[in-house]
Amino acid sequence: MNLSMPNPVQPTEASVEEPMVRFRGVTKRYGDLTVLDHLDLDVQAGEKVAIIGPSGSGKSTLLRALMTLENIDEGVIMVDGEPLTHMPDAGGQLVPASARHQRSVRGKVGMVFQSFNLFPHM
Ligand SMILES: Nc1ncnc2c1ncn2[C@@H]1O[C@H](COP(=O)(O)OP(=O)(O)OP(=O)(O)O)[C@@H](O)[C@H]1O
Ligand SMILES: [Mg+2]
Repeated sequence: MNLSMPNPVQPTEASVEEPMVRFRGVTKRYGDLTVLDHLDLDVQAGEKVAIIGPSGSGKSTLLRALMTLENIDEGVIMVDGEPLTHMPDAGGQLVPASARHQRSVRGKVGMVFQSFNLFPHM
């Protein structure tokens, strides 16, 4: 998928802040299939974004990557200014995030699954 979308938010004072969610160069492959191809995406706090595309175009993959349910092959995902997929090592260089780091940043993100009715009585 080649998801690049114009950011509808005009550069107002509020939007010069760090985006709540930032994808930079995010690539996800399943074998030979490249689902996310160097995806750049910013979502500001309070902004509502609809991701539209045909079945199989990678919408759920994008959300699963944001939830750390999928590892990405390239790029960085930031949540509220903090790298989700990476963490700084002792020298300040970004290295792939530990499971513990991912859990701590993931606490800021929630997802309702496509088949959300996991509990039939609810
Ligand atoms: N675990 C996996 N292993 C291999 N291929 C996968 C895996 N998960 C998803 N894919 C493939 O990645 C592509 C993107 O799938 P994804 O589920 O992100 O699409 P989608 O846009 O959410 O589709 P839908 O509209 O049907 O929900 C599809 O071609 C799918 O077959
Ligand atoms: Mg889906």
